[in-house]
Amino acid sequence: MSHPEGRTVAESRASVVRLTVPTDANFMGNVFGGVILAEIDRVAYVSATRHSGLNCVTASFDRVDFLAPVRLGQVVTFDSRMTYVGHASMEIWVEVDAEDLTGPPRRLVGNAFVTMVAVGPDGRPIPVRPLLLTTEQERRLHAEGEARMNERRRMRAAASGARPKEHDP
Ligand SMILES: CC(C)(COP(=O)(O)OP(=O)(O)OC[C@H]1O[C@@H](n2cnc3c(N)ncnc32)[C@H](O)[C@@H]1OP(=O)(O)O)[C@@H](O)C(=O)NCCC(=O)NCCS
Repeated sequence: MSHPEGRTVAESRASVVRLTVPTDANFMGNVFGGVILAEIDRVAYVSATRHSGLNCVTASFDRVDFLAPVRLGQVVTFDSRMTYVGHASMEIWVEVDAEDLTGPPRRLVGNAFVTMVAVGPDGRPIPVRPLLLTTEQERRLHAEGEARMNERRRMRAAASGARPKEHDP
């Protein structure tokens, strides 16, 4: 069901399935981490754009954890869901699973939190519609997302304060 005043988490969930091939290889013969990161970025973009109905850009990646190597020939599934929506920013949680098509069931190999920001034609941030929370788990993830977003703001402020000024020796 669509809500003009907001969107539920379910309405912007997204999933991408990718068969890994030899051109995805790193020097160990597994899948290059950058291939996984690019897919995380894409699926997070789909969720953010579905939620906001606006163009979005990637503002940051954090807590990207590669829990196990992905072997060539495995099928990798990327599932994304909105956890927190601020004014123009959105936090998206992406879980990454890998499976051998002829082997054991899929298992979690990675996860990440991505922040996307909705932007207007001038590239400046613009407000997004609210996130409608319908389950206890969504409310918990949202509260945790808000705490992470505040921590990101704090760290950005600290990093910009620590940056050397142009006229510093
Ligand atoms: C993301 C971007 C639009 C933010 O612009 P800005 O002028 O810094 O915007 P503001 O400071 O007003 O912040 C806008 C929102 O983005 C959030 N934000 C800004 N930088 C962020 C970062 N690095 N990580 C997480 N959130 C960020 C702010 O917290 C704020 O959230 P809110 O609106 O929900 O309160 C701008 O930094 C940008 O265009 N970056 C490049 C994005 C890009 O090109 N990505 C692809 C890389 S190839």
